[in-house]
Amino acid sequence: MLESLKPQPQDKILQLISLYRDDPRPAKIDLGVGVYKDATGLTPVMRAVKAAEKKLWEVETTKTYTGLAGELAYNAAMLTMILGQGHADRAASVATPGGTGAIRQALELIKLSAPDATVWISNPTWPNHPSIIKYLGMKMAEYRYFDAASRGVDFAGLLEDLGRVKPGDVVLLHGCCHNPTGANLDLAQWAQVVEVLLARRAVPFVDLAYQGFGDGLDADATATRLIASQFPEVLIAASCSKNFGIYRERAGILIALGDASHKSVTQGNLNFLNRQNYSFPPDHGARLVTMILEDAALTAEWKAELEEVRQNMLGLRQALADELRRMTNSDRYDFIAKHRGMFSRIGLSEAQVIELRDRHAIYMVGDSRINIAGLNAKTVPILAAAIAAVGG
Ligand code: LMR
Repeated sequence: MLESLKPQPQDKILQLISLYRDDPRPAKIDLGVGVYKDATGLTPVMRAVKAAEKKLWEVETTKTYTGLAGELAYNAAMLTMILGQGHADRAASVATPGGTGAIRQALELIKLSAPDATVWISNPTWPNHPSIIKYLGMKMAEYRYFDAASRGVDFAGLLEDLGRVKPGDVVLLHGCCHNPTGANLDLAQWAQVVEVLLARRAVPFVDLAYQGFGDGLDADATATRLIASQFPEVLIAASCSKNFGIYRERAGILIALGDASHKSVTQGNLNFLNRQNYSFPPDHGARLVTMILEDAALTAEWKAELEEVRQNMLGLRQALADELRRMTNSDRYDFIAKHRGMFSRIGLSEAQVIELRDRHAIYMVGDSRINIAGLNAKTVPILAAAIAAVGG
């Protein structure tokens, strides 16, 4: 049986992790996978998470199964963090293993209820989106998103393409901090997207993996909240990997908003999908998140640290844009300071990306996506000089 297996394409982001690890050069710089690093290169356990873990060790009395949907308190706390008040009566939800688990379950739910629906993804998008859609054998289409010349959003192209969405199609949107480009819609543009998708009778599917990394915890949820308030049905896949820094704990959530009268059937389907795929979702990370969000002091501590993280990334963006201004004698990298989130697609060719890796030991994804949080005050000028050296 196993002999009939063919090699699978490697995920281009994960592939970089091993290439970087195997590079013996001590001054190497990792701008690949989306993991936050502080000025010392460490991905720290956040202070509130540490405090919650300590408390959990003291008070936890059992490790028996949770419910299939996870702990209801987690789902309720996450719903409030993402959408605020007012949606509980129409929100079915399940805890999932990370944001990827939520995306997978959302796609499986779409497949169950609307097997002929086309799932629209932005071009470009996180490579695992099309990968899972294809793996599930679902129909897929792309809408334009990025303007390579300005490194901003190709809004005219986006609107034109979304105008072709069919009733019942699903449109996958990055709620904030677009991955991989770092270019984002402003509120007026979101309002127009809502208008078009309402007219097309589409179902929005929001991927919210970086809430708190762009303009702030609430500001980053504004588009998702607008969508939730306007559409009869919405899917939201959210992750706690980045904003709580608990990557390996695998804490995510899938929220399905629909008519309140159908909530229990939707919930039953979500529970069913969890049972088919892994039975019970992981609990540890979700429990820490719940403890933090239910405790005012821990919430304040967590929000303060998340804000430090966000400000650090904004500072690095500005420093890199300034340094590139000096090194290239031009303003063509000013967009880096305007982008939001962990990533920016900086617009180098694949050959330049390879040269940066081979000659300068600087690792970024082949489409020239850099992880801003992989930089620090020392490496910003090194990167800027290397970009100039490869003719960027
Ligand atoms: C990324 O885009 O680097 C992150 O979302 C990590 C991943 O799983 O790809």
